[in-house]
Amino acid sequence: MFNLILFGPPGSGKGTQSSNIIKKYNLYHISTGDLLREEILNQTKLGIEAKKFMDEGQLVTDDLVIGMIGNKLDANPDSKGFIFDGFPRTTAQAVALDNLLKSKGSKINVLISLEVPEPVLKQRLLERGLSSGRSDDNEATIDKRITEYKNKTEAVAAYYGDKNLYVGIKGDDNIDQVFTSISNTIDKYI
Ligand code: AP5
Repeated sequence: MFNLILFGPPGSGKGTQSSNIIKKYNLYHISTGDLLREEILNQTKLGIEAKKFMDEGQLVTDDLVIGMIGNKLDANPDSKGFIFDGFPRTTAQAVALDNLLKSKGSKINVLISLEVPEPVLKQRLLERGLSSGRSDDNEATIDKRITEYKNKTEAVAAYYGDKNLYVGIKGDDNIDQVFTSISNTIDKYI
C-alpha cells in the first residue's frame, strides 16, 4: 500500500493535482474538505456543525474529521493506497492518522508539500470564488483560512519532516509542470 499526503495552504492546488494523481497511480482520494461539503449538502448533524467553522475560515474540530477518515479507511480495505488531501491539518490529526494506518499494518510513505507564495494563493482563490459557489472563497475568509494554516497546519510539515518524509515542490508553475514534479517524487517513493 502506498499512502501520500498532498499538503499545502488553501489554493495551493491540492484538489487539482489529486485528480491527476488518481488517474496515473490509481490511489483512493480522500479530501476532508469534499467530505465535509457533502455532509453540509446532505444537512447531516456533522455537516451542520462543520459549516459554522468552515464559513468562518476555521478548522473543524479534530474528532469530527478523524472519525470521517477512519470510516473511509475501513470502507476501502482493498485500495492500493490513499491520497490524503487537506488532512492531516493539525499535529493531533497527524498522530491519529499514523495510529489508524499502523492498526492496518500500513504507514504514510511521503508528504508532498505544494509551495506557493501567498499573493498567488489569494489571487487563485478570489478567481475561483467568482464561480465556485464556495461560501469560504471571499477575501475576508481566505485571509482567515491562510492564518489558520500558519497557526495550526504548518506544524504538520515539521512533524513529517522529523520522520524524513517531507518533500517540498514548487507549486506556482503551470499545472502540468507541477504534476511532473509530483510524479517524479512519487516515483522515488512508491
Ligand atoms: P478544503 O476544501 O480542504 O480547502 P483548502 O485547503 O482551503 O483548499 P482548497 O480546496 O481551497 O485549495 P486546493 O489546495 O485544493 O487548491 P485547488 O486545487 O482547489 O477545506 C475547506 C475547509 O474545510 C477548511 O477551511 C476547514 O474549515 C475544513 N476542513 C477541511 N479539512 C479539514 C481538516 N482536516 N481539519 C479541520 N477542518 C478541515 O486550486 C485552487 C484554484 O487554483 C483552482 O481554481 C485551480 O484551478 C487553481 N490552480 C490550481 N493549480 C494551479 C496552477 N498550478 N496554476 C494556476 N492555477 C492553479
